[in-house]
Amino acid sequence: MNNVTITPSSSIVASGTYTLGDRKVHRMGYGAMQLAGPHVFGPPKDRTAAQAVLQEAIAVGIDHIDTSDYYGPHVVNGLIRETLAPYPTQLTIVTKLGARRDDHGNWLPWNDAESLERGLMDNLEHLGVDQIEIANLRLMFGESPTEGDFIPMLETLIKLRDKGLLRHIGISNALPVQVREARERTEIACVQNHYNLAHREDDELIDELAQAGVAYVPFFPLGGFTPLQSDALHEVARDLDVSPMQTALAWLLQRSENILLIPGTSSVAHLHENIAAADIDLPDAALEKLNAIAG
Ligand SMILES: NC(=O)c1ccc[n+]([C@@H]2O[C@H](COP(=O)([O-])OP(=O)(O)OC[C@H]3O[C@@H](n4cnc5c(N)ncnc54)[C@H](OP(=O)(O)O)[C@@H]3O)[C@@H](O)[C@H]2O)c1
Repeated sequence: MNNVTITPSSSIVASGTYTLGDRKVHRMGYGAMQLAGPHVFGPPKDRTAAQAVLQEAIAVGIDHIDTSDYYGPHVVNGLIRETLAPYPTQLTIVTKLGARRDDHGNWLPWNDAESLERGLMDNLEHLGVDQIEIANLRLMFGESPTEGDFIPMLETLIKLRDKGLLRHIGISNALPVQVREARERTEIACVQNHYNLAHREDDELIDELAQAGVAYVPFFPLGGFTPLQSDALHEVARDLDVSPMQTALAWLLQRSENILLIPGTSSVAHLHENIAAADIDLPDAALEKLNAIAG
């Protein structure tokens, strides 16, 4: 940690704040996954450009960065450390545990007790910190969605939290029933699931978490590897003289106060464009059109 103060730009301020763990962060954050090489594997094509995105994120006042040691693997955490450490005290870095990459870039589960601890130690080392602020337990696709199957993994994270190696636990890629079960077992700081304008399976869960004051952090807010495409989205954006991506982010900000954004980009220009989405006030007619997209 250092004494550098993060000074939020007017757009970051306009995004508002919400509780994440025991801190308040601005609702416009940054997802660092896109900083690795193609398919989130290996080094970035342009290391200097990747570092410039991180520097700019802090310069404009972003205080919440999402990462994982399996991005690269190790590449993104290494970039974050090299570019931003010693970290500003207000910066919350959130990581994920439960997966690893093989030599070909395949994503594999890594969620027995020993692997989860090893994953946490790797994050500590590569980020250069003594404690992780928030670690999301990332459940894998194809894992049985049966209630309770992941509880031994959660118990491991609780033990690691008790040891002081992480401060807060989140959960990711989890079904509503799993989120409820996890929250019954322990305090869950945030839920990070796939959600955007066109992918709204979690609508009810988001409202439930908002009632409980728990942050919901949508991954793929812009559609991820297949960016959002919709005539209605393009029409609304054109009428407001903003971009479709900005419109999609503005919709998320207006959707619920507990939504924290972590749009991913490897471009400083896109970073600025995304942050400016916080200045957009979507009128009711636009919201109506956008709400119909998922229908
Ligand atoms: N928990 C999980 O399982 C999980 C899964 C996936 C992701 N995540 C996290 O969620 C974050 C966000 O997800 P994501 O990065 O995969 O997807 P995303 O934010 O939905 O979209 C990223 C894609 O959109 C492009 N993009 C960004 N801003 C743009 C703009 N203004 N105009 C046009 N294109 C734009 C990016 O390309 P450029 O680089 O060219 O801008 C990139 O291809 C990740 O960074 C990661 O931290 C978590």
